[in-house]
Amino acid sequence: MESIPSHSARDYLERLRTDRRVAQAWETLGSSLALAGSDKLLRTLLVCSTQPQEGKTTVATHLAMVAALAGERVLLVDADLRRPRLHTLFGIPIECGFADLLEGRAAFADVARPFDLGADARGALHVVPSGAGSAASVPLLASQQLADVVAALGANADKVIFDSPPALSVSDALFLAPAVDGVVFVVGAGEVAKREAVLAKERIANSGARLLGFVMNRFDDAKHGPGYHPYHAYYEG
Ligand SMILES: Nc1ncnc2c1ncn2[C@@H]1O[C@H](COP(=O)(O)OP(=O)(O)OP(=O)(O)O)[C@@H](O)[C@H]1O
Ligand SMILES: [Mg+2]
Repeated sequence: MESIPSHSARDYLERLRTDRRVAQAWETLGSSLALAGSDKLLRTLLVCSTQPQEGKTTVATHLAMVAALAGERVLLVDADLRRPRLHTLFGIPIECGFADLLEGRAAFADVARPFDLGADARGALHVVPSGAGSAASVPLLASQQLADVVAALGANADKVIFDSPPALSVSDALFLAPAVDGVVFVVGAGEVAKREAVLAKERIANSGARLLGFVMNRFDDAKHGPGYHPYHAYYEG
């Protein structure tokens, strides 16, 4: 995606509402993903990448917003239990979230925080933070609890988008990936060594996940030349 200067969820929403070009780029990404999985309903999606800072949280948030603005009931879930960021981005408390669902100490109604998209919005966006002390719940990602929680979240939304930690640093994404309907792989342009990205991609693919495609994030037209797309090579995994 092209450069996005703003750093809060409100700023992202404002830009999506006012800059048609930006909105269109994210909408096209959303519909490309839907097309990549056209033979199957893609209700639950994981956004992952090889290493830190490639744009997972940014991509997950924008995908959630454009889907909600288009009329879907969307849940954006912070499944980065180690370095959660959605609560900061959205200015909501970190307490009571995804980790609490995994631990079985909270119900859906306790964890989903509504985000106001504006009076004219056709859909709805709820954010599920990681939960305080969520790193302690990491081992539960490898348990049956995960599938149950994903199913429970899916029962409450048209679309559930999970943010995740980097796939090459820790194995969390390898547990999350096969538990969802499809995986979006973010590649920070110029940020990641090709060899590492290929390795991370292979690990995700080998986890039994359905890789929907790649998003090339932070594309700089000046550097990469005109005609470059912010994402490419969608395929069915
Ligand atoms: N397309 C973009 N244009 C400009 N800045 C961006 C873009 N994408 C991400 N950033 C910025 O880069 C930083 C890292 O992005 P983000 O938090 O989305 O990455 P991440 O992969 O989730 O990182 P982490 O692995 O640490 O969770 C943030 O400050 C974000 O605002
Ligand atoms: Mg992140």
